[in-house]
Amino acid sequence: TYSKDLLGKTVLISAGPTYEPIDPVRFIGNRSSGKMGYALAEASIRRGAKVHLISGPVALPPPQGANVEYVETAREMQEMLFKHFPSADILIMAAAVSDYTTDSTLAQKKKKDGTEWTLHLKENPDILSALTKSRHPGQTIMGFAAETSLVRKELQDKLRRKGVDLLASNNISEPGSGFGSENNSILLLTHDGSSFEEKSGSKKDLADWLIDRIILLRNRILSH
Ligand code: C5P
Repeated sequence: TYSKDLLGKTVLISAGPTYEPIDPVRFIGNRSSGKMGYALAEASIRRGAKVHLISGPVALPPPQGANVEYVETAREMQEMLFKHFPSADILIMAAAVSDYTTDSTLAQKKKKDGTEWTLHLKENPDILSALTKSRHPGQTIMGFAAETSLVRKELQDKLRRKGVDLLASNNISEPGSGFGSENNSILLLTHDGSSFEEKSGSKKDLADWLIDRIILLRNRILSH
C-alpha cells in the first residue's frame, strides 16, 4: 500500500525513444526501452496522480489508469508535451529524445543501387530546455541524463543549463543498468544544496524513490 501523496496532482511523463524517419521504412532511433518512464507512470498512478504519459515506440503495455499518447518523432513528442505541460504540476522527462534528425526524409523507399547513401543530420531542438523556459510557479521538473561517465561538475552544469529542479543520471556503460535493463543505478542531483544521492535497484523501486524526492522538494519549497 502506498500513501496517496499525489492525489489531485497531474504528472506529465515522457518515456521511450523517438524515431526519426529517413525513408518510409527506416529510421534513426536509440536503445531506450521506456521501462524507467513507464515505472514512473505506474508509481505516480499508485500514489493517486492523474498521469499523462507521452510515449515513443516501446514494447511495453500501457500503464493501467494512465492517459497515454503515442508519438514517434521528437517533433511530435514536443507538440504533445507542450499541449499538456501548462496543466501539469510535475514534469518527468524520461524520454531519450533523438538528438539528431534529418532534413531530407525520402518520400519513397530508398532502393539499393550499389552506391553510397550519405545522410545529412541536424540537431533536434532541446524539448526539456524549451519547456522549462515556459514553466509557471509551482511546477516541479525532473530531467534525466544517460551518460557513459558521470562527472559531477558536468551534471551540475546540465541541471542549470536545462533549468530542471532534479536531474537523475545513470551510467549506461555500467553492466546491468541503463537501457533495456530491469535494474538501474541512479545518481540524483537536486538543485538546492547541490547534494548528490545515489541509489541502485529495480526500476520500480527507483521510481518510488524518485517520486519521494520530487515530493520532498515540493514540500520544502512550499514551506518557505
Ligand atoms: O542533453 P541530454 O540529452 O543528456 O539531456 C537529457 C535530458 O534532456 C532528458 O531528460 C531528455 O529527455 C531531454 N532531452 C530533450 N530534448 C532533446 C534531448 C534531450 O528534452 N532533444
